[in-house]
This record gives sequence, C-alpha cells and structure tokens, in this order.
Amino acid sequence: MFRNIFSSLLVLSTSLVGFSQSAARFDEATKVFRLEGANVTYAFGVNARGELQQLYWGGRIATADSVPAAIPAREWASFDSSYTTTAQEYAGWGAGLFVEPALKVTFQDGNRDLVLHYDSHQITSEGFKIVLKDIKRKVFVTLQYAIDPQTGIVGRSATIENREAEPITIEQAAAAAWALPAAHYTLNYLTGRWAGEWTLTQEKLQPGERVMESRRGSTGHQANPWFAIQAGDNPDENSGEVWFGALAWSGSWRITVEQDQLDAIRVTGGFNPFDFGYVLKPGQSLESPVFYGGYSDHGLGGASRLLHHFEIAHVLPRRIGEGEAAAPKPRPVIYNSWEATEFRVSEVGQIALAERAAALGVDRFVMDDGWFGQRKDDHAGLGDWYVNQQKFPHGLKPLIDKVHALKMDFGLWVEPEMVNPDSDLYRKHPDWVLNFPGRPRSEQRNQLVLNLARADVRDYVLGFLDKLLSENDIAFLKWDYNRNWSEPGWDQLPPAEQKKVYVEFTRNLYGILAELKKRHPKVELESCSGGGGRVDLGILQYADEVWPSDNTDPFDRLMQQDGFTYAYTPQVMMAWVTDSPHWGNKRSTSLQYRMLSSMQGSLGIGADITKWTDEEMATAKRLIAAYHQVQVTVVQGDLYRLISPRNGSEFSATQTVNRDKSQSVVFAFIHSTNEGRGFPRLKLKGLDAKTTYMVTPIEGELVHGSPTTASGAWWMNHGLDLDENFRGDFQAAAFRLDKK
Ligand code: DGJ
Repeated sequence: MFRNIFSSLLVLSTSLVGFSQSAARFDEATKVFRLEGANVTYAFGVNARGELQQLYWGGRIATADSVPAAIPAREWASFDSSYTTTAQEYAGWGAGLFVEPALKVTFQDGNRDLVLHYDSHQITSEGFKIVLKDIKRKVFVTLQYAIDPQTGIVGRSATIENREAEPITIEQAAAAAWALPAAHYTLNYLTGRWAGEWTLTQEKLQPGERVMESRRGSTGHQANPWFAIQAGDNPDENSGEVWFGALAWSGSWRITVEQDQLDAIRVTGGFNPFDFGYVLKPGQSLESPVFYGGYSDHGLGGASRLLHHFEIAHVLPRRIGEGEAAAPKPRPVIYNSWEATEFRVSEVGQIALAERAAALGVDRFVMDDGWFGQRKDDHAGLGDWYVNQQKFPHGLKPLIDKVHALKMDFGLWVEPEMVNPDSDLYRKHPDWVLNFPGRPRSEQRNQLVLNLARADVRDYVLGFLDKLLSENDIAFLKWDYNRNWSEPGWDQLPPAEQKKVYVEFTRNLYGILAELKKRHPKVELESCSGGGGRVDLGILQYADEVWPSDNTDPFDRLMQQDGFTYAYTPQVMMAWVTDSPHWGNKRSTSLQYRMLSSMQGSLGIGADITKWTDEEMATAKRLIAAYHQVQVTVVQGDLYRLISPRNGSEFSATQTVNRDKSQSVVFAFIHSTNEGRGFPRLKLKGLDAKTTYMVTPIEGELVHGSPTTASGAWWMNHGLDLDENFRGDFQAAAFRLDKK
C-alpha cells in the first residue's frame, strides 16, 4: 500500500506491494474518518462548513469510543478567523488563512482565492481517498491516506487537478499538514553541513514558525526532511509522547512547524514553495510527494524504532523473499578505494587493494572516482563515461574478473547528473546544463548540473548507465552528487513553465532509478551526495544504502550515527573504517575503536590496506567475521541509544535486539575518562525478561566476577558491568548476548 502511494510518484514504476488489511472506517452520521493501526488512531472529519478537519492523532482509542464530529474552531477575536484556527487537513490559501496553506494557486484571471471543501470519498484497501474541491472553481484535490498496521505510520499525499478551462499556476503545494493541540512541546530536527551532517537539534516550540528546508534542488546536508515533536519541555529517549514525520522527496523541500497565536501546532510539508511555480493546463494534475507521520508513547527511541521497522518493511528495495515478508538484504561488507587512492586509480593499484580486501573477508570491492574519461582530478571528465585507457588499458574486465576470482562482487562509482565543462559531453551539449541563457554558469567543484528534467538528458543518463551495467558484471553503483543547483533555468520551456524543473528533475531521477532496477534487478545502489546530502524516504525506495557523511573520523561518526538513527535505519547507514590519524580532525584512534564505531551500522573498509601491518589485518579480519555473525541484529533490530555521545559525554553506548529477542548486541565507547570514573553500569533494554542470555565479548571484557549467563530480567534490571580497566581515551568494547 505504501508502495502504491509511492507508485503515483513514479514515472516508471516497478512491481508494487499492497497491504491486505484495511483499518479505515467512516461514520456516515458524524462524517468522521478514522484510521487505526498498531497503537495509533488518526481521525478527521467534515465540519459544518464542509472543511476537512483533523480531530485526533495519538494513542489508539477503543473501537467503541466515538470521535466527536468536527466543528469549526472558535474565533478568539476578529483577528483569528476560524478558517485559520481550524486544523484543516489540507487548507487552500483563501478566506483569510494566516497559517501556512497546503495549497496556493493563481488563476488565469488573477483570482488567488482557493477554499477547499469536502466533495466525496472512497475507502480503499489501505485507507482513504478524499476528494476536495474549491467552493466555486473546478480545482480538485485528492488526498490519499494509508496506515501501516504494524507501526501505525500514516502515509499521506495529495493530487491537485485542474478541471477549469484555463491554466492555473500552483505556487505552493504540500503533501500534507499535521496538527497537534495547544500544549508544551519540544521540536527535534536534523541539521548539518558537509562532513558535519546529522546534528540532532532540540528546542522548545515557541510561537511563530520554524522552517526546515532545502532550496538547493536536492535534499541537502544542511537540514533533513524529518521531524519529531515530543510532548513536554524535555526530550526523552525512553518515555513520553512523540509525533514524528518524514517527507519522501529528494528535490527542494520544506517542512514548517508553526505554533499559532492560540498555541496550536501545525506541521506542513511538501515541495519547497520558494521559486516554485507549476502550471497546470486544463485536465493536468500534479502529485505531491508522500509525507509519513507516526506516533509513539515510548519517547524518541520508540519513535525511531517504529520508523526503522517501517523503512525496512515498506520503503527500502527488497531482496529476500516476496511480498510483505520480504526484507532488504543486509549490506555486504564493502571495501571502497576513495580514501586510499582518491583519483589515482589503476588496474594494478586496485588489484593490490582487492587482494588485501579479500584477505580480510570483505564481500564487495568498490572502485570510487577516477576510472573514466580524462579524470585525473576534479577538473575534468564528468559526463564522459568511458573507461580511461591510460589507467585501464584493457577496460574494466581484468579488474572485475580478479575481484570475482577473489570471491567478492564488484561495485563502481558514478556521478550521473553532473558534467565538467572540460568534458566531451559539455563541448557537444553546452545547453544540457541548468542555466539561464546569457547569465554566468556558476561552477562548484568545477562542475555544472545536467538538467535531468530534459528528456534528452534523461535518455543520455539512462542510456550510458544501462550500457555500463550491460557490458560489465557490476553488482553495485555508488551514485554520487557533489554540488547543489544554481541558475536553475530550463529554457526549452516557455518562461511561465520553466519552474517545473523543481518537480520534473527529481521525477526523472526516480524514473531512471526505477528503470535501471527493472533492467538490472540484481544491481544495488548507494545514494551519496558528498556524504549525506541526499538521504530521504524518496531516494530510499531505490537506494539500498546511503553514504551518511564524508567524515569518517570514528568519534565524529558516533555523533553522526546517533543523529542519523533518529530518522533512518542502521541497515542503510554505511560506515567505513579509514586510516588513523584521521585526515579531518588529525585524531589518532586504535583500529579496534574504528572498527567498533563502524560496526554499529553497515560496515565497510576505506583505508589504504596495502599499508596495514599483519596485526592490523588480523584484527580487522577477526572483527569482520564477528560482525557477520551479528549483523542482522545490529542493522535490522530494535535500536536503543543507551547513552548518547552528544553534549560532550564521556561515554556512549547503543544496544540492538533482534526481532525474536534471541540476540542482542551492545557497543560501548569512551571518549576520555575523567577522575578515574569507570564506565557506568548498562541497564539493557528490550530483552525478554524470562529468557536466559549468555554474554560473549566481541571486544573487551566484563568486570571480574560478573555472571556471563543470566535472565533478560537480570540484564535489564541489574545491568551489564564492564571491566574496571575499561578506561582511557577513545576506548571501545562490544558484547553479544545470545539466548541459551
Ligand atoms: C564524494 C563522496 O562522498 C566520496 O566518498 C567520494 O566518492 C568522492 N565524492 C569522489 O569524488
């Protein structure tokens, strides 16, 4: 069902899976719509004026409880029209709306008033389709609702259709608006920059509007389309009510969180209205992205566990099994050449790395940037996707054959949406880039952005990738994207329609990815944008994994991984072990520390392993083997962030528990101990109290005299005591608990 919602976004959709069970009810007498799944009820109704109004979103209520019929909100003063204070599900800008509208349009005759009222509805196998219509004109909006019975996460999207005789211009279009009643709340969101993504930012909600957005054409490092609002003034990991959401869109996006003048909260998200203008001719329609929203009464930890399960079950490409039971394949342990060789790739050099990687027990060898065109550095070559003859005189085949002979599969780096002005492609097609004719073309990293919204550019990109994958035995593409947009012109279209680029570019990207998956179903993809610049639930329908950050410093990564996992599952969180001292912070750390930091996600190696000592090789080999044994628990289990590394914490710890509670894995890290304080006792979570678990060290020791076998109740109530010598700077330990 969620895949069906997504399908509406796809130009080229693949096979879609639906939920069988409907949890949608409509009460004709009260005109209340009700969605129920897991521990969640979501209800809305048609009020006396005909507006669609949110009535309840929270913990599940009894079936017998009736949700009172909708009535327009009270007008506090003449300055607070009830059109503004009514929590509308999808408000048109008109009739004196002062909060963010879901939809704002301009008609051909200059009229800009849009008031959407309930028109009709349909109960679907997944939820509802509700049709709204302007009170005068033939502008229709179909709202789609679906609820996941396992997590209670609701997926919402909107399709706007123009049935007028003249074109209309959409200036603002959300996927959905969510509402919460007046109370004290804390907002959580993710901010960052290149090599500094995934900072969890927490603040008390105040009157006014907080804007999270990207105007950059793609998701962006600076903010991520996710939010979580917790009841009360203090964020809590383990308890309390949390409402959270994530927008499935990889283009310019915006989520606003408003506390209105009567203290009620409204969250509105969708296409970024900045520089937006989508012309709908008569009969045309525009589909919004999907905005997912969920609820947990187990704090921020409970919220992220629901989101992780939802992503694994309904968003990520599936590889193992069929239908609802299918699961994404745990990521192969990869080796990536970037930090070892940068652009200096060659057949001999890559084979040397591949031999060492195979000796470590790596599953996949990935050659990064530098293999194509005249690519010696970042000044040339992007766009020319032929193998560089000087570096690979016999093509890629000898390297790929060698990698296969070493029992690994082969992956390759590409950056398909970009072009260097110093390339054959740009010399031939200078008009293919985003630009305003007669204006400068601003370069970043010496490159320009191809206008993927153009059909010829889309065909070129699909064509070369299809050829590359057809002619070479490639299991994996790392799809990179190393700059944001500037001068976003699309001069093929009439001036009034050029802003469609904000939608069509991203749609064509999804279309290419869907078509590649169809033509090459075994090929897996990583979404990378100079690290974590394109991570969202839109791209994750196609990408099996993401590169969270170019910052591979293992201590920084602890904080980034902490932030990342509020929104995204560790299944997709690639984490390479690189060399020490780290290039960024010049910090030296042990190989054990680096390995354990990366083992919290999907493990990779990105160091120059030709220089590793025998001892380092042995350590990495041992820990890769240990990781393979617990990987599914770590990346697909329930994650508990026991101690956060944020805010200068001396210590940090995480724990994951697999679905049937037969295995758990604990990671513990010390930044630097002070005044001789030892590691705090770790009270574990999520185990089965009655099951007996045996603790086995992966790295490190328990305190002398500690039991190694005890009940889940013991580990959760008494806790795990780490060795008293577990002290110092940048220390790490890990343990597994297995059901006896
Ligand atoms: C940015 C990526 O994040 C890096 O991992 C690497 O692939 C470089 N691009 C290559 O240019």
